[in-house]
Amino acid sequence: MSSTIESVLVENRVFPPFPDLVKNANISGMEAYQALCREAEQSPDAFWGRLARENLVWDKPFSKVLDESQAPSYRWFGDGELNVSANCLDRHLNTPTADKAAIIFETDDGKVSQVTYRQLHARVCEFANGIKALGYQAGERAIIYMPMSIEAVVAMQACARLGIIHSVVFGGFSSRSLQERIVDVGATLVITADEQVRGGKSIPLKPAVDDALAAGGCEAVKHVIVYKRTGGKIGWHEGRDLWMHDVAANQPSVCAAVPLNAEHPLFILYTSGSTGKPKGVQHACGGFLLWALLTVKWTFDAKDADVFWCTADVGWVTGHTYIAYGPLAAGLTQVMFEGVPTYPNVGRFWEMIQRHKVTVFYTAPTAIRSLTKAADAEPAYHPREYDLDSLRIIGSVGEPINPEAWMWYYTEVGRERCPVLDTWWQTETGAHMITPLPGVTPLKPGSCTLPLPGIAAAIVDEAGGDVEAGQGGFLVIKRPWPGMIRAIWGDPERFKKSYFPPELKGYYLAGDGAQRDRDGYFWIMGRVDDVLNVSGHRLGTMEVESALVAHPMVAEAAVVGRPDDTTGEAVVAFVVLNRSLPEGEEAAAIAKQLRDWVAKEIGPIAKPKDIRFGENLPKTRSGKIMRRLLRIVAKGEKVTQDVSTLENPAILDQLSQSV
Ligand code: PRX
Repeated sequence: MSSTIESVLVENRVFPPFPDLVKNANISGMEAYQALCREAEQSPDAFWGRLARENLVWDKPFSKVLDESQAPSYRWFGDGELNVSANCLDRHLNTPTADKAAIIFETDDGKVSQVTYRQLHARVCEFANGIKALGYQAGERAIIYMPMSIEAVVAMQACARLGIIHSVVFGGFSSRSLQERIVDVGATLVITADEQVRGGKSIPLKPAVDDALAAGGCEAVKHVIVYKRTGGKIGWHEGRDLWMHDVAANQPSVCAAVPLNAEHPLFILYTSGSTGKPKGVQHACGGFLLWALLTVKWTFDAKDADVFWCTADVGWVTGHTYIAYGPLAAGLTQVMFEGVPTYPNVGRFWEMIQRHKVTVFYTAPTAIRSLTKAADAEPAYHPREYDLDSLRIIGSVGEPINPEAWMWYYTEVGRERCPVLDTWWQTETGAHMITPLPGVTPLKPGSCTLPLPGIAAAIVDEAGGDVEAGQGGFLVIKRPWPGMIRAIWGDPERFKKSYFPPELKGYYLAGDGAQRDRDGYFWIMGRVDDVLNVSGHRLGTMEVESALVAHPMVAEAAVVGRPDDTTGEAVVAFVVLNRSLPEGEEAAAIAKQLRDWVAKEIGPIAKPKDIRFGENLPKTRSGKIMRRLLRIVAKGEKVTQDVSTLENPAILDQLSQSV
C-alpha cells in the first residue's frame, strides 16, 4: 500500500458538493448531517429506534432497541419480528413501485431481460413454496453457488422469506472452498447453476458442487437445486438433484413471509481473516436490513427515478447489501450484469450505463484502474466516447482508491459533475460506515471522508487511546450499530478475539490502519493484520500458505503482499520445496503447478502472482519467519536493515530471484 500512502499524504485538493445535490439530497447539507450525528450521539436508542420504525415494516413492534447485556454479542430490536423479503418485495405491492422494473438483467452476450417488483415477488414466492414443499424450514442453512442472475436474487430472497439462512459462495471459489463452507455451515440444501458465462466462456459450476459433496462431510445436504443457465452437459444424481424451474413449477405465486425475530440470522458470508480458516460472518435480519436500506437512502441518495447499478458479484458482501437487499427494500430499479467489464470490449461498462441510463454507478478501484489503462490503449472504448449524461453519483468500494484513479473516475466518467463516493466498509459492518454523502461532503481524492450518522469511528493506539490528528493508528468503531456482525458462525471465541480484543476497551476493531486529518477526514492505509486485498477481494496470507503446504512438493511457505498498480496488492509466495532448489525452466514449471494448485484449493483469485524458491525462509534464531523482510524482498527492494538477528541472512539473496 505504500505508493497509495505516499500519494494520499500529499493530497490537498478539495471538491465542494454540487449545489443541486445539496438542495435535493435525502440528507441535504452539512447542517442536516450534523443534526443527525448529534441526534445519534445524544440518544442512540431513540435515534436507531426512530429509524427502524420509520424505515422497516414490522410484524411485531420491538420494545427494546439495543440489548448490551451480552456484549459484544449485541442484540438489536431483539423482541421485534419482521421478514426481510416482505420488506424488500411485499411492501411495494400496493404502491406504484409494484409495476416498476426491479431488476434489469444483462447477460454476458448482451441479452436484456427485466422483472417488475410484482413479477419478482411472484417468482420468489413460487420458489419459496417449492423449497418449503421439499421440507425446508426456518433455521436451516442453504449454500448458494450461483452466477450473477435474477435467479440468484430469487434464491436469496426465497431463503429470507422462509428464514432459511443462506451462505452465498462466490462462483470463482473452488470445489474445495465450497466443501469447507458446506461443512462449516452445516448446509442441508445447495442451490447452484449448471454453468456460468463470463467473457464469452461457459464455466461449469455444478461439477464443483458434485466434487464438494463427494469429498465427504456434506452428508446433511438433501438436495441440490440447479438453475439451468446454459443447458451444458452436467452429471445428475437422481433423487438429490432438482431443476430450479421444476421446484418452482405449479407452485402458488403467493407465499406467506415467515415473521422472524429481528435477531434471526439472515445470512452467513465467509471472509478471510488472519488464520488459515475463513470466518463465517453472521448477520441478523432486522439490523442488517435497516443499515442496508438507510445507506442506500443516505449514501446513494435513492430517488424513485434512479437506475442503480452495483457491479459487484452476489458472492461478496457488496452484492448482498447493494444488489440482493438494499436497493429492493428502497424500491429502486437496478441493473444486474452477468459478465465482465472487458467483454466484448473494454467499453462494456460505459455502454451499459448509456443503454440503461444508469444514474448511480458503484464499482471497485481495481476495475477503474484497469479500465483507465484499457481506455488509453483502446481510445475507441474510452468513456468519453459514450453518453454518460444520466449519471449523477459514482461510487467506489473494496480497497483504497488512489488519487490518480479517483481523478480519472471523477473527470472521465463523472465528467466533473458527479461526486465520487469512496465508501469504506467491510463484510462485518454490513453496509457503508465512512463515506461522503452527495449533498453534504466536500470531497478529497483518496479519502473516504466522514462517518455516517450513528457511526462512532475513531483512530486509536494499542491501548485504545485516541491518537492525534495526522497520526496513524487502528481504525475502530466505539459504539455498536444495527448492521454489525453478530457472530462468527460456530466460533464465539474467535469472534471476541478478532473484533473486540480486551485491550481496546470493547471497541470494534476493523483490522485497518488509518489516520484522520485536521478536518476529521479518514484516510485508510490498508490492513494491519495478515489479510491482503487483491482486486478488492480479501485473502488471508495464512489461507494461501496452508493451500501451498498441502501440496506434496512443498515443505514450507510464506506469503506476503506487494503493491500492484492494477490489483492494489499482489500475492507473492516464498516456497521451500521438499527437494533441491529448481532452476530455469524446471522452476517455472513447478511455479505453474503450484499456482494451479492454489487455484484448485481456494480459487483463481488466490493464485500467487510471483513465486520465489529458496532453500529456507528468513528466520530468527527462535525460528520465527521475518515477514517484514519478505515484504521488502517481494517489492524488489534491497534489505538495508540490520539482519544480524537472522539465523540465515544469506537466504535473502536467494529469495530475491524471481522465477
Ligand atoms: O481493508 C479494507 C478494504 O476492504 C476491507 C474489507 O473487505 P471485505 O470485507 O471483503 O469488504 C469489501 C467490501 C465492503 C477493509 O477492511 N476496504 C473496503 N473499502 C475500502 C477499503 N479500503 C480503503 N477504502 C475503502 N473505501
